[in-house]
Amino acid sequence: MSSLSEIKIPVADELRQFEQFFRETSRSDVSLLNIVVDYVLRTKGKQIRPLFVFLSAKMNGEINRATYVAATTIELLHSASLVHDDVVDESYERRGAFSVSALWKNKIAVLMGDFLLAKGLLISTDENEYENLRIISQAVKEMIEGEMLQFQRSRKLDIDEAAYVEIIRKKTASLIGASMAVGANSVTKDPEVVALMKEIGTLAGLAFQIKDDIFDYQSKGIIGKPTGNDIKEKKITLPLIYVLDNASAKEKRHILNIVQHKNHQRDKVDELISLVVDRGGIDFAERRMNDFSNDAKALLDKFPDNLAQHSLVKLIDYIITRKK
Ligand code: IPE
Ligand code: IPE
Ligand code: MG
Ligand code: MG
Repeated sequence: MSSLSEIKIPVADELRQFEQFFRETSRSDVSLLNIVVDYVLRTKGKQIRPLFVFLSAKMNGEINRATYVAATTIELLHSASLVHDDVVDESYERRGAFSVSALWKNKIAVLMGDFLLAKGLLISTDENEYENLRIISQAVKEMIEGEMLQFQRSRKLDIDEAAYVEIIRKKTASLIGASMAVGANSVTKDPEVVALMKEIGTLAGLAFQIKDDIFDYQSKGIIGKPTGNDIKEKKITLPLIYVLDNASAKEKRHILNIVQHKNHQRDKVDELISLVVDRGGIDFAERRMNDFSNDAKALLDKFPDNLAQHSLVKLIDYIITRKK
């Protein structure tokens, strides 16, 4: 498997310039905001989405200013969504450090997320990048719908595999699809290419969220955020869906009782995690994840091979084998 730094090679210079651009764009004149902005920038994540933007652009043409603007808007909106997500999920840890909401409390985290969102929108409007902004805003709308759908379904304990895929398509795959679309759109106006890149990103994004949901069932301390948080938040994800589908009526009642009423008892959550692992829930989720990543790679095969295309194939492999 390739490391992320190997995958970045075809766009390494561009990613360095992006880093600078991203930093400058995030500044504020209000010092309290800057303190929190600095914190978010210092604990930066994997920056997978900008990498998708740049590789998609490079594969289809010449990277230009519109590509940087698109990557910056995407990463700002992604960062905003994580700051808010940790409020919603009551999570104290993000990227191996305290979450913004854990350090500064929810009030500041809500405002901080809004600030990053506003900055993301502004950079695109300042640069007259309306088509890319439309693509990204559509994805952000879907992210919120996906989160809401997850609440709605989880509350009724009414999630099957099809509902789960719809949720993760909206809440996560939409933004990775948008990353590929805006990257392509910054270098070519061919709508077929843009649509195909979006589809590839969406498939990769489905695999990405399944991997994230598998992490939540794994041992603590490696991924830089808490595990067992999904059950705590009553989120029924693919490993658990499989086990529920294959459980007896009595077992099903026992499992759902933990999810609904004992979700704040660490020993009960751990018991459920062990059960899901033992019953093959992780193996099943991995099979589905591999299916989506194979579909994404099959579509990438339709493009002429070049360095950026090779890196995209490796990036999709990285998504399903990553350790955090
Ligand atoms: C986390 O995304 C949120 C999900 C969609 C699962 P990432 O795993 O890309 O987060 P960072 O930016 O690398 O921290
Ligand atoms: C993804 O879901 C959140 C967003 C799309 C913002 P999760 O709640 O699983 O993400 P993590 O695990 O907290 O990063
Ligand atoms: Mg979360
Ligand atoms: Mg998660």
